[in-house]
Amino acid sequence: MYIFKKNSLRHFNALNNFKKKNFSLLGNAEVPGDKSISQRALIIGLASIGQTVIKGILDSEDVYYTLKAVEALGAKVDINKNKKTLTVKGVGLGNLKSPKKPIYMGNSGTGTRLLIGLVAGSNATVTFYGDESLSNRPMDRIINPLKKMGAIFIFSEEKKLPITVIGARKKGFTMPIRYKSPVSSAQIKSAIILAGLTAKGTTQIEEPFKSRNYTEVMLKKCGVHINSKISKKHINIITVSGTSYLKNCNFNVPSDPSSALFIVVACLITRGSKVKVKNILYDSMRLKVFKILKKMGGIININKTSVDTCEIIAEHSILKNITLNKSDTTPLIDEFPALSIAAACGKGKMIMKGLGELRYKESDRFKSISEGLRNAGVQVNTIEDDMEIIGTRKVLGGNTVVAQNDHRIAMSFNLLSLFSEKPIKVIGNESISSSFPRFFSTLKSLKK
Ligand code: S3P
Repeated sequence: MYIFKKNSLRHFNALNNFKKKNFSLLGNAEVPGDKSISQRALIIGLASIGQTVIKGILDSEDVYYTLKAVEALGAKVDINKNKKTLTVKGVGLGNLKSPKKPIYMGNSGTGTRLLIGLVAGSNATVTFYGDESLSNRPMDRIINPLKKMGAIFIFSEEKKLPITVIGARKKGFTMPIRYKSPVSSAQIKSAIILAGLTAKGTTQIEEPFKSRNYTEVMLKKCGVHINSKISKKHINIITVSGTSYLKNCNFNVPSDPSSALFIVVACLITRGSKVKVKNILYDSMRLKVFKILKKMGGIININKTSVDTCEIIAEHSILKNITLNKSDTTPLIDEFPALSIAAACGKGKMIMKGLGELRYKESDRFKSISEGLRNAGVQVNTIEDDMEIIGTRKVLGGNTVVAQNDHRIAMSFNLLSLFSEKPIKVIGNESISSSFPRFFSTLKSLKK
């Protein structure tokens, strides 16, 4: 189920008929709204007083479940199907409703972790649960700091969903903390920031490298005193002051660079192709993957079209693999599956270091990528958290990949199937509805 349209299985026809004759991908492609910004717009709308109008929201399953959760926590959401806008009437900070029933979050890690943070700073009691993939993802990384802020958690021994959160303000108040996160994670950082909004004083978070910062930027727009600075050792230090209310403001959601990447990689690996994707979020961190592909010889042009958007034009290219160190790979957390496919079709050895966090995504992506590529006949070597992919012009294919509820794994191996000699069968294409429901129809519309 989505927000504006009903889910339709027709979108999930795989690309096997692409194989029947030679084809190129040509034309303009539309990519849906950014997933991170869409979910934050809903959550911040819930925590504000007054109305938040959201334009360009991603119409996908993850966002749908976050929207349903925001409603269950007290917001009133009006959907304008013609204008494709949403209006969220918020309940204000700390006034969240305690729903009678547990809230189902589907596959959405971002929605779940951010809402757990918001509830942790409230006076509500909420139980969250999710699908099989989300139920296997670590939650201790947010539970530990949020407990220090006064929230109470009820969970199984493994500290995974289902989890009940009793907000810190149920029995007392939200404590400001100083927290050094062992990993750079926008979800951990955002959960603490959202809880810190109701704290008496200033909460400080440190992360080893800067992760995406939409929570900080969007809250600042709503009048929150939130600042960040980067130390000489690249440590990102964020401070947020507790406040009594969030000024309501409207959000425009540009298209998602991580979804655009799948179209760009499809174009780079398919002979005779040239594609333009428009209205993409202009954020140097999220665009870094395109710079890496350019360094590999990808013919890619990025043209800025407004303060926060750009268009990306890509052409079929012969890619030459390179080495990426940990500092290069940290901001590419969502981009590895597609980048690995580009590397498998490139020339030479691609070395990618420091990929440990890939194990904690919608699936263990380190394993899904290495196994899926090996089964398709690509040589992959792994040493601890590093991966080497030996590119080849002849990817055999003919294998089956089980997507394990991981949209990016499903899309990636569908892309490799465009290039491989025999088709690759992907089981679990429905997972693509988390972020890019029109993935197949978009590629089909470009097929010439
Ligand atoms: C996201 C943060 C990232 C990313 C995820 C979206 C967010 O995870 O992988 O798809 O919107 O906060 P991290 O928590 O590892 O940064």
